[in-house]
This record gives sequence, structure tokens and C-alpha cells, in this order.
Amino acid sequence: MLNDADHEPELIALIGDEIARHGPMTFARFMDVALYAPGLGYYMRDAERIGARGDYYTSSSLHPLFGEMIARQIEEMAGCCGGTFTVIEQGAGKGALAYDILFALDQVPSLGERVAYLIVERSPAMRDRQRRLLEPWATSGRVRWAEALPTSPIRGCVVSNELVDAFPVHRVLQQNGRVAELYVGMSGEGFADVVGPPSTPELEAYLRRIGVTLAEGQQAEINLAAVEWIRQVGRALARGFVLTVDYGYPADELYAPHRKRGTLLAYFKHRTNEAFYERIGRQDLTAHVDWTTLVLAGQDVGLDVTGWTDQTSFLLGLGAAAAAEAHLAAAADEAERKRTLAGIRGLLDPRDMGRAFQVLIQHKGLTPPRLRCLAFGSSPQALFRES
Ligand SMILES: C[S@@+](CC[C@H](N)C(=O)[O-])C[C@H]1O[C@@H](n2cnc3c(N)ncnc32)[C@H](O)[C@@H]1O
Repeated sequence: MLNDADHEPELIALIGDEIARHGPMTFARFMDVALYAPGLGYYMRDAERIGARGDYYTSSSLHPLFGEMIARQIEEMAGCCGGTFTVIEQGAGKGALAYDILFALDQVPSLGERVAYLIVERSPAMRDRQRRLLEPWATSGRVRWAEALPTSPIRGCVVSNELVDAFPVHRVLQQNGRVAELYVGMSGEGFADVVGPPSTPELEAYLRRIGVTLAEGQQAEINLAAVEWIRQVGRALARGFVLTVDYGYPADELYAPHRKRGTLLAYFKHRTNEAFYERIGRQDLTAHVDWTTLVLAGQDVGLDVTGWTDQTSFLLGLGAAAAAEAHLAAAADEAERKRTLAGIRGLLDPRDMGRAFQVLIQHKGLTPPRLRCLAFGSSPQALFRES
């Protein structure tokens, strides 16, 4: 039932009207409206979404060490590209990662002024929040904002944390030996899954490219927006790197037959649920990333794989252990020491975000050195195990 006070009524009316006029909508369309409808979607309102008072934690919200280590990696990348260097951070949320990266870059003599920072953020509400947090850098013009990636190619690095998992996904279902699609239709006063033929041949082409045939009855998500995104990123880069942090799997693992219901989840107040048609606009919707497809689609636009590793190895390679000790030693009192320890442990612990999150580095137009972040191992071959 949709008369729950915990919904955004205007969003429900918007979705209901569209279904009434055009018939069931793809789940990708539903997710796009629920998360990004102007002024109404989950990310489009000025509300606490990320962190203790929100619905979920991101690595950037746990401890500044995460941004500090990414800044170290950016320093090395800027060194091997030469000249001016632009960091593009896409999907910056509250702006915490940008703050920590900029703060760390400013500590490196002569690097700060050589590196420009461009935030590409879809949500005006998030952009306002970011501007407030990054006020000194915004005033000096060091940080600029845009709604979309630049069309004239830059030399630099495109950084993102938990961007790709926030893209709207299509839902598919293997039925009678064929790929069918799960649409969103009306059911009484609420919304419900409706099965139909695929809305676009791209869905089957996607699965063919990664060599996946779903098991009979298996449901899965397909992130066509991720394919389009990495193509845009490749076109936006003349020379440089893409550093993508997110949670996901190689394609053969993501679409393995045991994952019968896919990986789509809703997040509300630090709990997950599968009630996708409840709390519309008030809960996050997200699906795991298919790393294999990001690599393959990247290759189409000249992005080669530099490495793929988990967050623990990524951070340790960049010197996180010594940096963690320094943060702990600098804590003013026992309470701050405990908070610091909890935050850093969350980032590094393989039982926590350390292994749940992975990092893909791609490059274009250069022969990269063995980057520091990959010193503790890199296994891009794992993305192509079965195909
Ligand atoms: C899950 S949050 C991650 C926030 C942040 N990176 C962090 O680590 O806390 C996703 C962010 O990506 C933004 N976003 C989603 N799609 C986008 C797009 N196509 N372009 C730019 N930003 C986008 C959302 O508005 C939100 O700020």
C-alpha cells in the first residue's frame, strides 16, 4: 500500500501517472525517478543520506585517511602525466572526499596549484552542500562544478567512490530459456513487478558480451548507464587515469546461478531491505557493479586496465598503515582515539569495507608505472576467469 506517510507522495503520483499513460516502466526508469527526479528524488533533496545520521556509510564518511591515500595516488599520477592536471570527481555526495583530497594535496609543495579540481555532480542539492563544505577552495576557484563530464578531453584523473552503484539499473529474468525484463506496473494502490519482453536489445547484447547465460528463473540487474558512463569518461580523457572505487564482482561471480535474485538492495537507516516499492524517494536503491563490463566497455574508448585490487590492498600500498599510526598518535584524547580507530578499521579491515570494496584503475594515452596503490597486488585477470 502506498498511503504510508513514509513515502514522497509527489513522486508516487509522478510514477503512477507515467504508468497510467504509457504502461509499465522499466526498473531503470523507476530508479531514476525515485533517486533523481528534480526536487523530489532521494539524492535531489537536501537531507542527510550519508553517514551516521543517514542511511549508509561510505568510505569517505568513515575517516579522512581514505581521501589522503587517494591524494597520494593522484600525486603519482600527476607526476607521470606532466603539466597541468585536472582531477574530476564524479558523484561527490557531501563533498567529504573532495575536502580530504584537496587538503592533502595542499600539503605537497607546488602540487596544489598545479592540480585543478572539477566536481561533476548530478544533484543540485548535493552541489550546494559541497560548495558549503569546500568554501575556501570554491572562493579561490580551485574547485569548480559541472553537471556533466567535459566534452573537450583533459589531462588528468577521473575519480569516483560509489558512483556506479548509484546508477539506475534494468532488471532481467531468465524465463523459458530467454531473457525477459522486470518492469514496474500498478497493483491496486501500489507498484509491482510485471514481466515483459526486453525493452532494448542492449540487455541481451550486454550478457552476450560477458559470455553469461542466466539460469532458468534467475533474476539479475544490468547497468547500461555504467557502460555509457565509462564511454563518456574515456572520451573526456586525452591522457590520464580513471580511479573507480565501488563494490561489485567480476561478471562470472555477479551473474553466478546461485545469485538467484540479483544484488539490488534498498538502504534505509543503515538497514538493507528488498521492498523496492516502499519508502520511494526516502530510501537508497543500489546494485553491485559488474567490473568486467567496465573494463570491456573502457577498452572500446581507449582505456586500458592498469590494475584491479581490493580497498585494503589499495590503501596499504599507499602507506595507510603508517598514516593510521600517525592519526592515532595525534588523537587528543581516548574518545578521539577510539573514533579514529573505528573509522580506519572500517576502511582497512577485510571483513568490513576493505574487501567489500574494490578499486579499478584504467589509463589512456600513456604507459603507466607500477602505481603505488597496486604494490600489494593487482589481479585484473580475475575479471575474466570464465569468459
Ligand atoms: C552513493 S553517493 C556517493 C557519494 C560520495 N562519492 C561518497 O563517497 O560519499 C552517489 C553520488 O553520485 C551522484 N550521482 C549519481 N549519478 C550521477 C551522475 N550521472 N553524474 C554525477 N553525479 C551523479 C549522486 O547525486 C550522489 O551524490
